[in-house]
Amino acid sequence: MKKIIWPAVLSIVGFLTYFFIRLTGTGFIYGNGLKYLLAGCYACLGMSVVRFLGFLFFNILYRRRTRREAPALLRIMFSMFAYSILFTLILGLVLEYDVTGLVATSAVLSVVLGFALQDTLGNFFAGASLHVEQPFKIKDGIKFREYAGEVDAVSWRTTTIHTNSNTYLIFPNSLLARDSIEVFPYNRLHRHSVLFSASYSISPQTVITAAEASVRDLPHVSYEIEPTARITGFGESSVNYELLYWMKDYMKVAEAGAKIKERIWYAFYRDNISMPFPTRHVLIERAQTEPRGIFCDVDYRGVIDKIDVFEPLSSTERASLVCSNGICVYGPGEYMVRCGEAGESMFIIGKGKAEVRVSSNGAFSTVAVLETGSFFGEMSLFSGEPRSADVVAVDEVEVLEIRKPSIQKLLVENAKLVEVFSTKVAERHAGLERHANSVRREEIEIEQENILQRMKRFFNLS
Ligand code: CMP
Repeated sequence: MKKIIWPAVLSIVGFLTYFFIRLTGTGFIYGNGLKYLLAGCYACLGMSVVRFLGFLFFNILYRRRTRREAPALLRIMFSMFAYSILFTLILGLVLEYDVTGLVATSAVLSVVLGFALQDTLGNFFAGASLHVEQPFKIKDGIKFREYAGEVDAVSWRTTTIHTNSNTYLIFPNSLLARDSIEVFPYNRLHRHSVLFSASYSISPQTVITAAEASVRDLPHVSYEIEPTARITGFGESSVNYELLYWMKDYMKVAEAGAKIKERIWYAFYRDNISMPFPTRHVLIERAQTEPRGIFCDVDYRGVIDKIDVFEPLSSTERASLVCSNGICVYGPGEYMVRCGEAGESMFIIGKGKAEVRVSSNGAFSTVAVLETGSFFGEMSLFSGEPRSADVVAVDEVEVLEIRKPSIQKLLVENAKLVEVFSTKVAERHAGLERHANSVRREEIEIEQENILQRMKRFFNLS
């Protein structure tokens, strides 16, 4: 407001002085001096009017219509245009200069400059239109032709895009104004997809459920809208699917897409869902007695031999444990066991590292780190209760999954096995409790007795 009032006050004082001198004929300014005083008064008045109009257009009308700040570039262009008209009017009407020459010269000059600066002016006006329309803002993701990145800066002439390779792409605004651009607004949900295929012999529901379950708990993916999978078509050798997921940060889309593909691979491998490819291949397989994982060097018999809880088992029983069960592989960050879910199997880690985690008030804490030769999942398997903690793969983890029927047979024949496992479960239970608060030795013993009785009941042992 001050910027409007001061020139107005100055012009009023100037006009009063001018009329006083003209009417009384007294004063210290004569002839051309008076003309210049009048020109100054009009200049101040004009400045006040231009500023008032700028305030009216940009601070009130523009803001009310677009609900955002008027771009600085537009304000500057308006001021330049208004002041040049004001300057010409004062020169012609007040100071009585012949401005036709000036106007003609400036018109010729404009044409010459227009030709010389064709590209620059094109970019300038495209930049002006980008400022006014604001089709994208700083930090928005944009995809333009084969280029993609985050908007880093928009100037009068160029728009700078920051790419994932930490390079900067600088586009002339006229180019952006001519072509179509895909904009991914920052901090607002946008959808992306990962394409995959699965065998015709597996039902779509099995594939869709496995794919959707595989993308839980991924960083950067938003779960405000749950990821969904659907069929996109029937290919020559496979059913084609897409997994749709939502994100807020465009710069993380490629990373999330790669992680999703990795998760789908692991999920399909575990669930025996094949992704056929259109080649003719003849597989000659030898019948195998032991299940094979992706790490062919893991000797599960050897791993089981080193685990103390399996000591009561004979050599044949240990071998049967390996042969009658299957192998699963999990990628880094995948949940192998989820707290609160039902579980009817336990796992022996053949390769890799996993963390046992509990959460309270939304924050995770690690109870134990399990490495090759450790086992987990026995607490639910032996009690029938929901899983007591999350077990998450730290790196690529391969496990032997021991299911209830195979262990039940061994428990019936080995009373000692029940005891050893009940001690282990009680210890781990105490570990969990200790994590939450402290537990005394006697409480562990009572808990162990309870667990032993529960296990016997659950497996119908006498
Ligand atoms: P379960 O309850 O079936 O699923 C979570 C698993 O985490 C649990 O079985 C145990 O195998 C494992 N677990 C729980 N507490 C501990 C602990 N204190 N130390 C090691 N492993 C544990």
